[in-house]
Formats: sequence, C-alpha cells, structure tokens
Amino acid sequence: MAGTARQAFEAILDADALVVASPVYKGSYLGLFKHLFDLIDPKQLAGKPVILGATGGSERHALVIEHQLRPLFGFFNTQIVPTGLYATEKDFDDGAVGPALSERIGVAASQLARLIEPAPALQPA
Ligand SMILES: Cc1cc2nc3c(=O)[nH]c(=O)nc-3n(C[C@H](O)[C@H](O)[C@H](O)COP(=O)(O)O)c2cc1C
Repeated sequence: MAGTARQAFEAILDADALVVASPVYKGSYLGLFKHLFDLIDPKQLAGKPVILGATGGSERHALVIEHQLRPLFGFFNTQIVPTGLYATEKDFDDGAVGPALSERIGVAASQLARLIEPAPALQPA
C-alpha cells in the first residue's frame, strides 16, 4: 500500500472517534469512499464511536445517512451517534456554518463525547 493511503488507514484505525462524511453522488455515498472502507477489516473498527455526515445538492437525499451510511457502519459494529449531519449549500452562509447545522453539530458532538468519556465510577449506596 502506498504511503499516503497507509497514513489514511492508520489515522482511521488510531482515532478515538470518527466523523465520517461523504458527498452524495447518484443517490449514494462515493464509490471511492466505499472502496476505502472495503479495505478495512471489520474487526478493526468495532466499538469505535462515529458521527455520520453527508452533503448533497438538495435535501432530497438526506436519508442517505439513515439508509446507507448507518447500515454500513453498523456492519463494522461501530457505536454510531443518533444524530446524523446532512448539509446542502443552504446550510452555509458565505462559507460559514449556519445556525441550524451548527446546532445539530453541537448535539452530535455531545452524543459523541458521551461515548468517548469513560463512564463515572459507581458510588457506594
Ligand atoms: C456526479 C454527481 C452526482 C451527484 N448526485 C447527487 C445526488 O444524487 N443527490 C444530491 O443531493 N446531490 C448530488 N450531487 C451534488 C453533490 O452531492 C454536491 O455537489 C456535494 O455534496 C457538494 O459537496 P462538495 O462541495 O464537497 O463537492 C451530485 C454531484 C455530482 C458531481
């Protein structure tokens, strides 16, 4: 495997959590995106906390997160946060993230943080 590809794999495998996103092409995630994950042994991602995201030309394909990305990362036995992040051009204002998307990012990030933080020790009754 070439150096750049190897670095990408190592970054994915070493990460405490993943924010996984793809543009929507022809109603689905990119072929290259799928190819990348096809090369990963499913056991290597098991239990990893994940936020799912996608961008599209319109809202029409927003459910690509629920119908395609979520099953794929379920196959990998990752821990996927409930809130997915779908964005179109309308979610950006002069390149800056707009308020609705910003709020969803905050919700997804706090869900992710709960998966990463160690559970508090049980207190004696
Ligand atoms: C070949 C091609 C197919 C596309 N198919 C879809 C599609 O099925 N549904 C959709 O919402 N957007 C579609 N788009 C729009 C892209 O999703 C959109 O341009 C992209 O998410 C914007 O992200 P980017 O600025 O990182 O490219 C398509 C774009 C291209 C070039």
